[in-house]
Amino acid sequence: MPADLSPIDKAKFVAARRAVDFVENGMKLGLGTGSTAAWMVRCLAERVKDEGLRVVGVPTSRRTAELATELGVPITTMDEVKWLDLTIDGADEFDPNLNLIKGGGAALLQEKIVATASDRMIVIADAAKEVAQLGAFPLPVEVVPFGWQTTKALIEETLFSMDVLGRDVALRMNKSKPVKTDENNYILDLSLKRIGNPRQLALVLNQIPGVVENGLFIDICDIVVIGHGDGRVTVRDINTGKVEDASVEVAGSDNIFADLGD
Ligand code: 5RP
Repeated sequence: MPADLSPIDKAKFVAARRAVDFVENGMKLGLGTGSTAAWMVRCLAERVKDEGLRVVGVPTSRRTAELATELGVPITTMDEVKWLDLTIDGADEFDPNLNLIKGGGAALLQEKIVATASDRMIVIADAAKEVAQLGAFPLPVEVVPFGWQTTKALIEETLFSMDVLGRDVALRMNKSKPVKTDENNYILDLSLKRIGNPRQLALVLNQIPGVVENGLFIDICDIVVIGHGDGRVTVRDINTGKVEDASVEVAGSDNIFADLGD
């Protein structure tokens, strides 16, 4: 591992490396989006190349599709496979019940479809993503562009009856233009500070016309692999209650780092 890799990147890498150990021959995989998920695609590509691992992945964004293709991980579509064995993805926050906030990379819609249609979902994250209660990270909500300001007003009104601390809603921008998702929708970021009842909020938001999906992933994640900057990983399984601590062997990963473009 290069010495100049930051502790946060080391943490993401070791989480990804450990999670890829769960992948078995013949599996159909959901491939997440984001910087941690990109490490996972690199680790997966290494196993495909070195071990001849046979897998096929459904990417959750154009970015992930491009990376997988570039590195030689076979990809397909959700419509082709319909159901998946395992999804591995990052998260913006996870709580003690492994409920998540996702969508920091604007890919929450495909991520939720893919994770929901998987036998198991593993989240890979650095330790900073762990929170006692969700909400410090602004909650992304994907909305259709048509009438988005009306949708925003309805969300703001709805938040008054919800158990949340903040109520600011902002359209996500890239310089002077609204960010567009792969489905050509917009993202509203809800600065809620603390979400008292994530399950209820997730249900209520999706009732509002114009809302396509929200970034709360409730009862979807099975396992979290938490990476630390010193190479340690913690694997927590919500179904069995098991917690395992280990260190990831990074020797022989040089080809992953050689491929690193960002
Ligand atoms: C993309 C996501 C990402 O998984 C989330 O934003 C975490 O990203 P990163 O691994 O770069 O911190 O939900 O929509």
